[in-house]
Amino acid sequence: MEQGQWRKARRLVREARRVIALTGAGISAESGVPTFRDAGGLWRNYRPEELATPEALARDPRTVLEWYAWRRSALAECRPNEGHRALARFFLRRGEAGLVTQNVDGLHTRAALEEAGEDPPEAALPLELHGAVGRDRCEFCEARWPAEPLGDAIPRCSACGGLRRPDVVLFGETLDAGLLDRARRLAERADLCLVVGTSAVVYPAAALPLATREAGGLIMEVNVRRTALTDVAAAALRGEAGTILPALLDPQPAVKAR
Ligand code: OAD
Repeated sequence: MEQGQWRKARRLVREARRVIALTGAGISAESGVPTFRDAGGLWRNYRPEELATPEALARDPRTVLEWYAWRRSALAECRPNEGHRALARFFLRRGEAGLVTQNVDGLHTRAALEEAGEDPPEAALPLELHGAVGRDRCEFCEARWPAEPLGDAIPRCSACGGLRRPDVVLFGETLDAGLLDRARRLAERADLCLVVGTSAVVYPAAALPLATREAGGLIMEVNVRRTALTDVAAAALRGEAGTILPALLDPQPAVKAR
């Protein structure tokens, strides 16, 4: 890793008054959660139009619900890694909201719970732009429930009879407007946007770092490889998020002068 990039990255974090972090599937890769577009990623092996669109859900709800039930059971084995934990500690220390994720795996929330050791303050909890796979919602009304194992019958909302479906954003669906608005405001007010483990190709999330930049702030990237954002990043740290984030964000022990 180039020393100059590290020095610059540490300085940018130290000097930033407001930080937003945008994370993607790469931060959970070291927890054993598959990414989408890397070798072995979900969208390399499955067709999203058959599993992750409202049309697929209407046409063949069982197949879609079974796929999400499979993802949920795989996630039950996964734990937050040092990358999630370092971000949780960072936002707990700062007491200021700024963690925005595209991930639906709930690992940022679990890391915040574990690091806070009690009910974590709002500021340490992520804005989950694409929803949460551990939650269901009604296709029609506002009802939400913790996800339950899939039985023989297609699950229905007890209030209105709508399909009970995962509370995640499918391709072609719009994001929760309130959440997106909060994320945009965080991005516009931040002087540093830390972009971790995302290919930054799915909008509107991918526009958040650009919003920081357009408002005069800087982008810093943490990724195992180059992305669409690398060329506009003020610093780019190459490597695994679980190694880089603690080294970047945790307070470093003071070096004694000899
Ligand atoms: P992608 O699979 O597109 O990108 C994962 C990124 O993580 C790549 O840039 C990898 O290089 C990087 N990466 C992999 N392992 C890493 C590690 N250990 N440390 C750091 N970086 C690593 O996933 P996303 O960008 O999150 O949307 O995908 C965005 C959205 O597309 C997802 O939220 C999902 C998907 O369709 C919905 O489901 C709505």
